[in-house]
Amino acid sequence: MISPQKVARWIDGWDAMQSSYIPTREARFSAMASLLAARVPSSFRFLDLGCGPGSLSARLLARFPRSRSVAVDFDPVMLTIGPIAQARFASRLHWVEADLRTDAWASRLPRGRFHAAVSSTALHWLEPRQLQRVYREVRGLLGPGGVVLNGDAAPLAQPPGALDALLTTYKDGQRRDARRGRAPPDWQGWWRRLEREPGLRPLFEERARRFPRANDHEHEVTEADHVRILRAAGFREAGVLWRDGPNVVLGASVA
Ligand SMILES: C[S@@+](CC[C@H](N)C(=O)[O-])C[C@H]1O[C@@H](n2cnc3c(N)ncnc32)[C@H](O)[C@@H]1O
Repeated sequence: MISPQKVARWIDGWDAMQSSYIPTREARFSAMASLLAARVPSSFRFLDLGCGPGSLSARLLARFPRSRSVAVDFDPVMLTIGPIAQARFASRLHWVEADLRTDAWASRLPRGRFHAAVSSTALHWLEPRQLQRVYREVRGLLGPGGVVLNGDAAPLAQPPGALDALLTTYKDGQRRDARRGRAPPDWQGWWRRLEREPGLRPLFEERARRFPRANDHEHEVTEADHVRILRAAGFREAGVLWRDGPNVVLGASVA
């Protein structure tokens, strides 16, 4: 199987690739951490939805030494390289293989309530009715005072209107500045190169079975719809807590 040193390089490449699409990704992680710090006790347990290789969990676990994460994903490649990359967190990071598109995902979690549910660049993979179910389940998993922090892109209007066009122009300029003439390490290219690693081919075949429409996951729920769905799921308050162009952190509070 792939060595930890190699995995570390793939994860560096993942973070660079994600940041080339979201130049303020690290600032968004940091904002999410600060928002959590203002709300949860120092020893807290959180759920990371669509965790990928564990980027957000790793940043929160490093910043809050008494926190614990339950990280959920359904991609067999991510669920193989993630635990190797984040092995330093040992039992503080618990990986769960579950499909957020299904009703049964929450039954795969270890028992107990969470102080927070977080997510980064993942929930736009869900269709609106799947997102509704996930938010409802999450509401039931949070204890008193629990919070949701979802960092993702969300349009203002659907179909996107003039203000969304303005935000897109802003985002494109930001990406251009961040790349400074370098070729962007794109999504497809990162996956294609990783697939050539010896031993990973069967995982890629399983990945294709689980996500047959690999590039068809842009379900753009507007900010206002996120807020409406969160309120309908039983959250007392919901709103945008941080913004950088089309990139937002949507928050919701149990009480
Ligand atoms: C763009 S990646 C983001 C990963 C990580 N949160 C980050 O910010 O680096 C989206 C992640 O959502 C996961 N995901 C998408 N649909 C899912 C589903 N139905 N169930 C579980 N995970 C899902 C994907 O497998 C992928 O790892």
